[in-house]
Amino acid sequence: MRKPIVAGNWKCHTTTNEATALAQALRQRLDGLEGAEIVVCPPFTGLATVGHVLRGSRIGLGAQDVFWEPRGAFTGEVSAPMLADVGCRYVIIGHSERRTHFGDTDQIVQRKLTAALRHALTPIVCIGETLAEREGNQTFAVLQRQLEGALREVPAADRERVIIAYEPVWAIGTGRNATPDQAQEAHAFIRQWIAKQWGADAGDSLRIQYGGSVTAANAASLLQQPDVDGALVGGASLNADAFSAIVKAALETKTVNR
Ligand code: PGA
Repeated sequence: MRKPIVAGNWKCHTTTNEATALAQALRQRLDGLEGAEIVVCPPFTGLATVGHVLRGSRIGLGAQDVFWEPRGAFTGEVSAPMLADVGCRYVIIGHSERRTHFGDTDQIVQRKLTAALRHALTPIVCIGETLAEREGNQTFAVLQRQLEGALREVPAADRERVIIAYEPVWAIGTGRNATPDQAQEAHAFIRQWIAKQWGADAGDSLRIQYGGSVTAANAASLLQQPDVDGALVGGASLNADAFSAIVKAALETKTVNR
């Protein structure tokens, strides 16, 4: 059975004091909960302090991006061994905001994914179509292109570590989430594509998160879908009560489905 995974993407929010307070509030609400993987992804500057607050808890630490080289003259970049060193176990790769504002192409996503896997980080690879692509009936073609581009060189032994986040661009930060049916349709497509490329077992065990305006109010209906294995949460992850409610929705829906 696939273990649900709920991750909070704090984006470019939180000073170290704010990050500490949020991590403490999450630990109070979520520590001891079993049955779901819980991850928070503060900005780089918050990783050490949040890692300190969460040490010994069941909440994992992730980064929002990673550079593909391990070290060198690359001003401003943060590498996979540096993330591992500060206690990260997860990293978001290919978020649509990286693709849109910072030029992350499918090839760059692939290089970052390779670096993450090489340094024992669990990658959360984001894919998703824009509104124009959806309206032009290009959703599946876009998802397939992004999957092909990102996953081209994943060694067989590392495949089970890869997590995919389906994040339709039009749903991110807009308050307009995909309907449960739209999410399920895209997730089923992704799972089938993986099963075709990597085999039926890999398809069965692949965890696919939905992301895009997930809230405490809509989480359960999305997570009830059979191919939705968790959530990648932006705005609502900055509120400890809302994020905790989403984690609990994952536990409840996925336990009932078991
Ligand atoms: P949102 O962001 O929940 O604020 O829509 C999701 C994401 O970007 O991962």
